[in-house]
Formats: sequence, structure tokens, C-alpha cells
Amino acid sequence: MSEAIALSGAAASRGGAPVWSGVDLSIARGEFVAVLGPNGAGKSTFLDIVLGLLPASAGRVSVLGEAPRGARGRIGYLPQRRSFDASTRVRGIDVVRLGLDGARWGLPLPAALSASSRAAAAKVDEVIELVGAAAYADRPIGTLSGGEQQRLLIAQALVRDPQMLLLDEPLDSLDLPNQAAVAALVQRICRTQGVTVVLVAHDVNPILGYLDRVVYFAGGRGVEGAPREVIRADVLSELYGSPIEVVETKSGRLIVVGTPDAGGHGGDCGGHDHASDAGAAQGGRAAADGLTVAEREPTG
Ligand SMILES: Nc1ncnc2c1ncn2[C@@H]1O[C@H](COP(=O)(O)OP(=O)(O)OP(=O)(O)O)[C@@H](O)[C@H]1O
Ligand SMILES: [Mg+2]
Repeated sequence: MSEAIALSGAAASRGGAPVWSGVDLSIARGEFVAVLGPNGAGKSTFLDIVLGLLPASAGRVSVLGEAPRGARGRIGYLPQRRSFDASTRVRGIDVVRLGLDGARWGLPLPAALSASSRAAAAKVDEVIELVGAAAYADRPIGTLSGGEQQRLLIAQALVRDPQMLLLDEPLDSLDLPNQAAVAALVQRICRTQGVTVVLVAHDVNPILGYLDRVVYFAGGRGVEGAPREVIRADVLSELYGSPIEVVETKSGRLIVVGTPDAGGHGGDCGGHDHASDAGAAQGGRAAADGLTVAEREPTG
């Protein structure tokens, strides 16, 4: 069977400016893959290319055995940074249903349910059950916590039985227990439903134990491989073009030290825990294994 995603000599540009180029990668069906890299490196751009929303500016791209656009109907997609204002009255279950019949969303179901709408309702219930959101799916989505909203959005992406799930920073703005819970949920979907999962992550650690592969974008390039083949000092130093250190804590967490892009807030880091600001990096904090807890506040 063909690969889930294959890029060969691929390049991406936005607004005429190159984002990355010379990318070769091959993701097998059923794999759980993280897409990592600093802000602006082109992670969301990669998803746009896989979805056929943006054509590659060079090279070849194949998705589920065909050109990206043709595969779009078989992909569930959760865009970056979606959350609902507290005043949003739409129920969670309606948001999931939107994934099935977006254009008809908002219309009340007919009093006498047709067979197809009964099947749709059963499918919506099934994915809500799968993500563990049954207890709150009838509540207005704006009144739910970020983690609860995220589960319902994952259910929305799953409701058409996709062969592949593209999730753009689904763990962003969740607290650590919710990051772990949503990561475990996504892994379960990947393994039990055989869905290929491509997940853009800011912090690789909550999913590190589940990953088959990572794709790391930085410095206008992208590399792929097993997590510990890519998140290595030599590989990342080469990619960034400057010295990078990778610290592994006793509990197996990976901390990348020295990424040149780091700014003053939690969103600017090299795809995972980092300690790249001067002074923040040093061994004591990393070894304490509490760096992430101390640094990462929910941002949303
Ligand atoms: N619609 C657009 N038009 C022009 N440039 C764009 C557009 N969208 C993104 N870019 C630029 O393309 C580059 C890659 O953006 P992209 O959104 O893919 O980065 P990212 O890795 O997903 O970053 P983040 O971690 O902040 O989400 C950035 O320099 C960005 O400014
Ligand atoms: Mg992005």
C-alpha cells in the first residue's frame, strides 16, 4: 500500500517567500508523527501542503496515494488555535455534527428522522463516546474547559472516519494533565482505528512515548526520523546552523537548549521544552525535571 505522506525534494513558499525547501520524507500509514520546530518554521504550512490548500513550489507530494487535493476528503483536520468564547451557545454535539455536514449545520433535525440522519446522529454519538466527551456534549461549547473543547474538536475531525488526522497544536493551551490525556486519546485513535496521525506540537514530551516519527522544520529545511534520531544535538545544530544542546532528563524528557528563535513568551520555542534564553538553560533546572511545569502556563 502507498505511504500516507511522501515528499520528495519538496519546497514551500508563502507570499513569494520561501519557507522550507529540499524536504524528503515518507510517513507510513498508521504512524503517529509529530511535526516540530520553532514559530514560523513552516509546520502549519506543511499541513496546508498535505491538505492541498497550498501547492508545493517544487518537488513532489503524494498523500494517501494521490495528489494532495484528491485525498482531502479522507483527512480529518483540526486547525491551529481554535477555541470558543464563553458566550458561544452552540452545543458541543452540534460542533461535532458540523464535521459531518458543515453546510447544513445549525438547522434543526427534522422531527421524523430519516435513516441517513439517524445514521449521522449515531456516528456523532460514537465519536463523542470515543473521545470521552459524552458527559458534556450537550452543553454550550463556550462553557466548556479548553481540554473539553479540544476533545470535541477532535471528535469533529473524526466524524467522517478519516484515514488520516492532521492536528495543528491540539495540546496548545491545555494544562499538563490535559495535554497527557488528549495525547493518550490521540494515540488510542491512531492504534485502535489505524488512523495516521500528524500532530504539530510545541512540546514533544507529552507525546514522546507514543511517537513513531518526528518531522522537524527549522532553518528553511526539514528532517524526519525516529524521535531520538532527530532530537539530537548534532542533527539540530546542523538544521539551525548554530550550536544546540539536547538534555535528556532522568525521566526521559527531552529539553532542547539554545534554539536561536526563543522569545520572551511560551509560544516561541523549538518545538518542545527548551531553555534557550541565557541563564535559563543550565543543568540544575533541566536536571530537576520541573522545567516544563514551571515554564508553561496555559496560553489561551
Ligand atoms: N498566508 C500567508 N501569507 C504570507 N506568509 C505567510 C502566510 N501564512 C504563513 N506565512 C509565513 O510563512 C512562514 C511559515 O508559517 P507557518 O504558519 O507555517 O509557521 P508555523 O511553523 O506553523 O509557526 P507557529 O509555530 O507560529 O504556528 C512564516 O514566516 C509566516 O509568516
Ligand atoms: Mg502553525
